Amino acid sequence: MSSKFDFGMIGLGVMGRNLLLNMADHQFSVIGFDKDENKAASLEQESGNNQNVKGVVTLNEMVQQLKTPRRIMMLVPAGKPVDDVIESLLPLINEGDVIIDGGNSFFEDTLRRIKYLEEKKIHFVGMGVSGGEKGARFGPSIMPGGDVEAWKHLQPILEAVSAKVNNEPCVAYMGKGAAGHFVKMVHNGIEYAIMQLISEVYGLLKNGLQLANEELHTIFKTWNEGELQSFLIEITADIFKQKDDITGNDLVDMILDKAGSKGTGKWTSQEAMNLGISIPTIDIAVSLRSISAYKEERVAASELYDGSTTNITTDKQTFINQCGDALFVATLLCYAQGLSMLYKASEEYKTEIPLSNVVKIWRGGCIIRSTLLEKFYEAYQSNNNLPNILLDKNIAALIQSKATSLRKVIIAAVENNIAVTGIMSTLGYLDAYSTANMPTNLIQAQRDYFGAHTYQRTDKEGSFHTKWND
Ligand code: 6PG
Repeated sequence: MSSKFDFGMIGLGVMGRNLLLNMADHQFSVIGFDKDENKAASLEQESGNNQNVKGVVTLNEMVQQLKTPRRIMMLVPAGKPVDDVIESLLPLINEGDVIIDGGNSFFEDTLRRIKYLEEKKIHFVGMGVSGGEKGARFGPSIMPGGDVEAWKHLQPILEAVSAKVNNEPCVAYMGKGAAGHFVKMVHNGIEYAIMQLISEVYGLLKNGLQLANEELHTIFKTWNEGELQSFLIEITADIFKQKDDITGNDLVDMILDKAGSKGTGKWTSQEAMNLGISIPTIDIAVSLRSISAYKEERVAASELYDGSTTNITTDKQTFINQCGDALFVATLLCYAQGLSMLYKASEEYKTEIPLSNVVKIWRGGCIIRSTLLEKFYEAYQSNNNLPNILLDKNIAALIQSKATSLRKVIIAAVENNIAVTGIMSTLGYLDAYSTANMPTNLIQAQRDYFGAHTYQRTDKEGSFHTKWND
């Protein structure tokens, strides 16, 4: 068999097929493997039977037809399937070949796999891919990490297929070890948080102002033409227009309010706890998806507690504008939390995550793409070592200019019994982070009082213990 193909894919679901078709559009020859012959056949059909696109049903056939060093990507469910694919590949590949895991794998699994394959002189790249099916087909945001040599083998293909912003590719090397999957995990944590905020604003406008879906569509569409411009706002505007095929009603009203999740948001929260970094809005977003699952209990509780929503009495357009500004600041605060986590992780794990490149490649292709990222990119360009983007003067000024709306929206929500737990957490984060003297001195006093845990003083170095109430 001739070795003619530039790139191989294991797993020809829609994402795998679309990524290969995208590569073929950029003149790379690609071969995909899937045990399911229908999927292998679909790949060739969807390419219009392009000679540079081939679908096969055995792994060996694929491996044998790849140019060396081989570039083989897996798009299979995270967990055991990834280990199984690695084991089946090992007898077929050679030293120097590159295996890429493009799924949402847990970064510690990726680290383990890197070490395991390093001993066999195989490069293993944990790579985040964001943008869903359309992104894969026409330009995703791609977050590869691992060893630099492997990145060099992949760079030309990934740069060609990624989304572009200002002609710059939305792919860059994300750092050592499992940095690619770590960055993707935090991307998803931010995604959870922003989606939570948008849903709360929807709740405010729908229940507090009694707006119809048509009006909601117009509001989100208008927001998407201004500084809130982002993929998630854009699709939200679309959602309000969608009719249900079954009933003819607006589809959004027919969807049960139980949110699912696949785990990446939870991992972000768990890992933030391990790192000792504060990401309250991501935590809340995960937690509220959990509350949403308890539909029956919520219905029962709604009858026990007088929580009926009252109408917001602020002038309608004024309140809509305040919601827009509040959403803008709150969204910014979600990115701040996620990026500060990446900063801490990079220090802790010595992965050298380039934050300026992270925000640069998130500007296009991915689910959390937004024009706001341009401002973060500028912030990191003036200081690439910012522990938190809230410390940038321009970002601070931007937040200050709209923070009053955030407070007003929260007050209105509280007064009218509308849950905005995620939005509140963003303000809580801002207020705590910008407090020079927190009341936590009292916690230290209490800890020392009951447990002799000691405390530090404001006037001298060292640890101190007091015999309280002696
Ligand atoms: C992306 C998405 C993608 C996926 C999430 C959804 O960047 O393209 O984040 O990875 O849609 O896994 O996650 P949940 O099912 O947990 O909401």
